[in-house]
Amino acid sequence: MKKIAVFASGSGSNFQAIVDAIKEKKLNAEVSLLVCDKPGARVIERAEEAGVEYFTFFPKQYETKAEFETEILKRLRAKGIEFIVLAGYMRLIGGTLLADFEGRIVNIHPSLLPDFPGKDAIGQALEAQAGVSGVTVHYVDSGMDTGPVIAQKAVMIRKEDTRESLQQRIQQVEHELFPRVLEELFNQEKVGGVQS
Ligand code: GAR
Repeated sequence: MKKIAVFASGSGSNFQAIVDAIKEKKLNAEVSLLVCDKPGARVIERAEEAGVEYFTFFPKQYETKAEFETEILKRLRAKGIEFIVLAGYMRLIGGTLLADFEGRIVNIHPSLLPDFPGKDAIGQALEAQAGVSGVTVHYVDSGMDTGPVIAQKAVMIRKEDTRESLQQRIQQVEHELFPRVLEELFNQEKVGGVQS
């Protein structure tokens, strides 16, 4: 069973989908830690409800990213974390975490990368009047949503779509895709490793 840490900044619906998939035995993992850079975020309540330990911090209370990542790393090591899952963590991963975990960090992003990277991918797709967007799960490197793609699924954009309606359909896809891709990845790793 993989010991994972989920990093999140917001509502945590993807965190919830992962916790639920584990409970339903669709994903052979244990969420041993939630890391959250927004102490008031809804995801913390979800962690409490699920009995998942969490570490939450204000990035501004540290002088540098290396400082707070060193703090995070200490906790990941103490818990024996093998894999990091970014689920709406709205921050670039820095060199401190990458040095230990590169190849073992994945992110979910609400677009078909390389289209619409960065913040507000859903707003960007609507603004561009795109006919299609979707969801990407990818490995994390030092860039903004630039690591190798693992899986993608398209979501058609309708003329009448609002931000809310499109977000809802994209998130439905995320909640199904993310746990399934994680399960596949962890099974592949048992056999001989996926790319790192
Ligand atoms: C998700 O849609 C995720 O793809 C996105 O944030 C949302 C978090 O929702 N991530 C990014 O935009 C990363 N660049 P959640 O907190 O309900 O899981």
